[in-house]
Amino acid sequence: MKITVIGSGYVGLVSGICFAKIGHEVVCVDNDQSKIDKLNQGIIPIYEPGLKELLEEAKSAQKISFTTDLEAAMQGSQAVFIAVGTPQDEDGSANMSYVFAVAKEIAQKAQDYKLIITKSTVPVGTGGKIAKIVKDINPNLEFSIASNPEFLREGVAIDDFMNPDRVVVGVEDEKSKEILSQIYSNLFVNEEPRVVYSDITTAELIKYASNSFLATKISFINEMADLCEAVGGDVKQLSYAMGLDTRIGEKFLNPGPGFGGSCFPKDIMAVLNIAKENDVNLSLINSVITSNKHRKVHMVEKIKDALGSEIAGKKIAVLGLAFKANTDDIRYSPATVIVSQLSQKGAKVAATDLQAIENSKQELAEFDNITYHEDTYSAIEGSDLIVIVTEWKIYKDLDLEKVKTITKARKILDLRNILDAKKVKEAGFEYYSIGQK
Ligand code: UDX
Repeated sequence: MKITVIGSGYVGLVSGICFAKIGHEVVCVDNDQSKIDKLNQGIIPIYEPGLKELLEEAKSAQKISFTTDLEAAMQGSQAVFIAVGTPQDEDGSANMSYVFAVAKEIAQKAQDYKLIITKSTVPVGTGGKIAKIVKDINPNLEFSIASNPEFLREGVAIDDFMNPDRVVVGVEDEKSKEILSQIYSNLFVNEEPRVVYSDITTAELIKYASNSFLATKISFINEMADLCEAVGGDVKQLSYAMGLDTRIGEKFLNPGPGFGGSCFPKDIMAVLNIAKENDVNLSLINSVITSNKHRKVHMVEKIKDALGSEIAGKKIAVLGLAFKANTDDIRYSPATVIVSQLSQKGAKVAATDLQAIENSKQELAEFDNITYHEDTYSAIEGSDLIVIVTEWKIYKDLDLEKVKTITKARKILDLRNILDAKKVKEAGFEYYSIGQK
């Protein structure tokens, strides 16, 4: 089927390239000419493992093209996905100006039936607002609206797309359901399609509810980690045993420095806004925001405790700047908060990451005493404390003998619990972690 995907950011690109992989003919549209030029040359503006290879494959199979011309892109395509950004406004609500501008343009340029599908995470009621915009501008256009939220995790987005737990589709008529079921039937060859159909409002809410629940699960285990530290328990054993209960499940029960990224922080603020506008009290989600905010600050207290002295003047190696491993994304990254606070407290920060150094340099430009190192061991050299903030595999495989030759202090604070405590201690290091004595 011919599919148009508007917005060549993270969601649009991954979705578009994966739609091409499952056999559709995809046209990706973006109003940024330089981005389109690069994509046409096979250059991807984001870091996502496997995406470049998949793009090359789709290009050689002539299944994908990139353009700024929406009118041409929509010709012969019934399904039009909106995948533009919905950044967070100052009041926490999702900024819908890009989505609505696209809806307007579709209405102006569409010449025959269109199924307009939102992939971006949008507030409840957006489907109706898009329908009104289209109707007002082009009363004669035959169209339907649908919601098909994405659940892609950065770093493993291709696998999340190709092997989803479920695909959520919100529709209001049979024709839309038929088109979307055809699109996704290519994903579930020889297996029962895992597509959940609902009305549009419910589909819009499923995305927010899922992300809020996962964020709550993380904050819950982070608080349990604090409790373990206070009473002498072990959060690794605790989360393992909790996760074996199938009602709870093992995933998203890893304690850490707090959740970040482009979705959880933004989505829980947006869901609170939706609740506020509708006079509903979501006190639980409200407290997750407070808990996560405090979490990042609490990590700086842990650094001070591990140092056993004031932070000022100490050289601290920060391993990991991205909000999680396998991405260059630093949005709401705990590392950014930690590094900025360390800098303000007078530490000398030696920061390193596998992908996120450039983004961090820009984000943290106003802070002093931060040096950036491509090489992990160059960051560690001469440090008073090594802090692991992001769970990159390279940090899990740290060569402790090499570390011993370049630092005197030999202290490691592992905010992701990725190292083997016994081995680290046997190697002669003081080891501090999360939720363990
Ligand atoms: C998330 C959702 O998982 C995805 O379905 C949605 O569509 C987009 O947002 P993403 O932001 O890429 O994906 O990252 P995710 O892997 O979910 O992690 C989010 C944050 O939670 C990260 O900061 C991560 O480090 C943290 N996390 C995750 C934990 O601290 N502990 C865990 O057990 C899991």
